[in-house]
Amino acid sequence: MNFFTLLAPFYDCFMAPLHKQQGRLLLDRLAPLDSRKVLDLGGGTGRLAALLAKAGADVWLLDSSAAMLKRARRVMPEKRALLGDAAALPFAENSFDVVMIVDALHHFRKQETVLKEVLRVLMPGGTLAVLDFDRKSAAVKVLTKIEQLVSEPALMLTARQLENLLAQNGFVKLETEQISAHQYLITGSKPLPSPIARGRKSDVGFV
Ligand SMILES: C[S@@+](CC[C@H](N)C(=O)[O-])C[C@H]1O[C@@H](n2cnc3c(N)ncnc32)[C@H](O)[C@@H]1O
Repeated sequence: MNFFTLLAPFYDCFMAPLHKQQGRLLLDRLAPLDSRKVLDLGGGTGRLAALLAKAGADVWLLDSSAAMLKRARRVMPEKRALLGDAAALPFAENSFDVVMIVDALHHFRKQETVLKEVLRVLMPGGTLAVLDFDRKSAAVKVLTKIEQLVSEPALMLTARQLENLLAQNGFVKLETEQISAHQYLITGSKPLPSPIARGRKSDVGFV
């Protein structure tokens, strides 16, 4: 049985000590949210998606656990809480202003494929926000062992490792904030088309 099938009924209680801090942080760093199209990738029970929707964002959530999604569908429109794999997103390119991945990147087995998919579905200039546990922390080392025991990939990274991974996969304007000894927030953007590429595009119209 999948780890999150077992965890789903208790997940929000388990995250309660971090929920307010994470919510405040995302609302602040991703502002303005009004009418912005946001994808909560690996969004679980929807605890953060619901907060962003309250702030006016047009929020979509995708998660691979039916049990977690069942809970998300209690706090957001059912049609916007999708079952799927973050490594194969069912969205057209340039669909979202913001993609957020909270406490989920380390659960993704194909991190690079996911980041390529995120780049594809983000609009040019759009923002990726990754909030995750810092591999350097002693408490996170313990969490890693526990997750491995239940067959989770537990691919925790240091902030530096994630910055490198994001840069290698095409994200720009990277900003890192150490939230606590255990967590960091890294934001990055999808590059805008270069003026040369834009020029080439309009040239095509004259041929
Ligand atoms: C620790 S929970 C985080 C949930 C939510 N982001 C939060 O902070 O409350 C990690 C979530 O990632 C989801 N997940 C793991 N692998 C996934 C994948 N390949 N595609 C989509 N979701 C995935 C799990 O089902 C789980 O709901």
